[in-house]
Amino acid sequence: MKTIFSGIQPSGVITLGNYVGAIKQFIELQHDYECYFCVVDQHAITVPQDPAQLRKNIRGLAALYVAAGLDRQKATLFIQSEVPAHAQASWMLQCISYIGELERMTQFKDKSIGKEAVSAGLLTYPPLMAGDILLYEADLVPVGEDQKQHLELTRDLAERFNRRYKEIFTIPDIRIPKVGARIMSLQEPTKKMSKSDSNQKAFITLLDTPKQIEKKIKSSVTDSEGIIKFDIENKPGVSNLLSIYSILGGKTIEELEAQYEGKGYGEFKGDLAKVVVDALSPIQERYYELVESKELDDILDEGAEKANVQASKMVRKMENAMGLGRKK
Ligand code: TYM
Repeated sequence: MKTIFSGIQPSGVITLGNYVGAIKQFIELQHDYECYFCVVDQHAITVPQDPAQLRKNIRGLAALYVAAGLDRQKATLFIQSEVPAHAQASWMLQCISYIGELERMTQFKDKSIGKEAVSAGLLTYPPLMAGDILLYEADLVPVGEDQKQHLELTRDLAERFNRRYKEIFTIPDIRIPKVGARIMSLQEPTKKMSKSDSNQKAFITLLDTPKQIEKKIKSSVTDSEGIIKFDIENKPGVSNLLSIYSILGGKTIEELEAQYEGKGYGEFKGDLAKVVVDALSPIQERYYELVESKELDDILDEGAEKANVQASKMVRKMENAMGLGRKK
């Protein structure tokens, strides 16, 4: 069976973009692959975090993974900082990364622009991510479009290590969904939907109430043409809503275009709000049952144990290949 690894940062609320681009894919893939899903808390501290809030977010994200359908019999869910091999692998991979290639990462540029002090961790974030993936010998990494560049660097680092030291790493492929790889802001549909947007109306979180969801969708920015058609160039707002509808409503874009031919944006948005509420309600119900439960701790303990076995084995291989310590 092939292996999958993916991770999400517990750095704030989890958005509909994270769900559509990542979590929903994970749940579908768990039946056909050996899966490792991670709460990447060490990535979150590359920018300042309030410790108490971070703790809460870590638990909340783990609960959301399970509430969305992650099956503990099929997939391993764990917290990155509970598996020390990630930090160890990251250091070794940093030592074969070049500052120039790290500085070229668009996420680094976006997050560091205009900042007076930028942490070294923000720059060395991609080798930590590469370590996450390579430790589990992942064949496939399901992510949204924005992670493509980091995945390309992961492949480069794996190839570089294999060439320079020893062929120990599997070169992972990236898996980006055909629809929904880049869910856009509801207010500025040419910009990615992001939890860090200062405008709360720009994103839907997985824990928004039906009223909030309806309000945000009804006030989403479209255009004045009144035609429901997928055309990213000229109709980014409508196209974004169609993508969300398609993924969550289980219909193709073509089916939706036909269904809404001759109908107005009001009706379309009203129906979409219902589709989103129907998709999120069962997840929310399960989330509130899980978030403070012992069941969640059991899942995470079991996950950390399993991940530690695999990851520490790979770290030893890396150290041996690089000549660190005494041969084990
Ligand atoms: P993060 O936490 O920013 O996002 C988690 C996942 O959600 C996807 N995503 C989106 N997809 C569609 N539309 C959007 N608007 C949208 N916003 C976010 C992301 O592409 C991602 O798949 N560096 C990663 C976390 C990470 C990781 C890893 C991922 C760390 N180690 C190893 C894969 C493998 C990140 O910051 O994702």
